[in-house]
Amino acid sequence: MKLFKNIKSIYGIQALIDKPLRNSELNTLNEIHNAYLIVKDEKIARFGKMESSTFNEEDFSEIIDCSGKIILPTYCDSHTHLVFATSREEEFVDRINGLSYEEIALRGGGILNSAAKLKDADENVLFEDAVRRLKSLIKLGTGAIEIKSGYGLSVEGEIKMLRIIKKLKTHFNIPIKATFLGAHAFPKEYKENKEGYIDLIINEMLPIIAKENLADYIDAFCEENYFTVAQTEKIIKAGAQYGLKPKIHVNQFNALGGIEMSVQNHAVSADHLEEMTTKDYESLSGSDTIATALPSCSFFLGIPYAPVKEMISKNIAIALASDYNPGSTPSGNMNFVVSLACIQQKLTPEQAINAATINGAFAMEVAGEVGSITIGKKANFILTKPIKSIYYLPYSFGENCIDSVWIEGEMF
Ligand code: NIG
Ligand code: FE
Repeated sequence: MKLFKNIKSIYGIQALIDKPLRNSELNTLNEIHNAYLIVKDEKIARFGKMESSTFNEEDFSEIIDCSGKIILPTYCDSHTHLVFATSREEEFVDRINGLSYEEIALRGGGILNSAAKLKDADENVLFEDAVRRLKSLIKLGTGAIEIKSGYGLSVEGEIKMLRIIKKLKTHFNIPIKATFLGAHAFPKEYKENKEGYIDLIINEMLPIIAKENLADYIDAFCEENYFTVAQTEKIIKAGAQYGLKPKIHVNQFNALGGIEMSVQNHAVSADHLEEMTTKDYESLSGSDTIATALPSCSFFLGIPYAPVKEMISKNIAIALASDYNPGSTPSGNMNFVVSLACIQQKLTPEQAINAATINGAFAMEVAGEVGSITIGKKANFILTKPIKSIYYLPYSFGENCIDSVWIEGEMF
């Protein structure tokens, strides 16, 4: 048993809830000041106010004095492309010099560039690189993560990526969800035969993925020059036959009607949403599909930010995630995501932290295990350095305020 004592404040305390937070529920991060927290068997066993504590210090194998420090739940990053072969800073310079993300993609850069690099990459090297990245993200406070395929774009490539994600699941004791994103882009050889590639996804990739139990979700990039709404729907309906629920890339550059279709197909989440129409708000309002905003992508590409404040007021459940990938978001730092959400999207720190923790957990269906300080949940939490208040976290953007990250009650 471990005792964390003299904690300045614990934030993100929740009862066990079965739906994401919405509307005014996002406005508070339930807290206790001058608190203790007890970890037993990798779980949160008890917490409360120091002055009303009844524990006996001799009962603990370890006592951590947290004077001046804050505890909050680890981030739940529900949208990443963590497995990739190499960075793409050449494209970053091309964009500085005036090309757009779409123009680079049309020249064969972008996702196809990453797919070409992944094809030649050794599976063990890809795995070790992913391990290194994930370790550094956990040190930055991420305690649950979703990871997509989508740089394979061939039967071998997609299966290779998903096997790596499956191996990551056994290597780390944080919740990891795998999403099959074979429909990330059309490979060059299928440029004139798009239905042929969709057939490959449905008839060749999906059966292997199901047989080897390689994915939890299915995704597609529903966008101009990528997958149409009808093609996306065909793919997610095929995924549903194998029990894969959809999480969709939609409305990043254009509003094509993919949100309505995603909601109709019971998508767990609709992600990006930088471009929204009245109809899109109506479709998401009151639905179970979580609107996942990716502010670091907007920051890096210089595109609009998803209008999350508007979404909250329209009864839409929102989450925040990193979108970590080598093209549009070469950072998986959720502290920066929370800062951006406050600075650029005008969320309050409470709203942003709720969206990046408990609602992120719902966006990958792990809210029973993580996402809040709740008795019985995994003891996955962030212990900050001594800071004046919780607001200091998003305010001091770029500063690392984390003292230590605890996963299943062990310092990571
Ligand atoms: O979420 N939009 C599509 N996919 C990624 C970018 C992938 C890439 O450029 O490699 C995204 O932004
Ligand atoms: Fe993405």
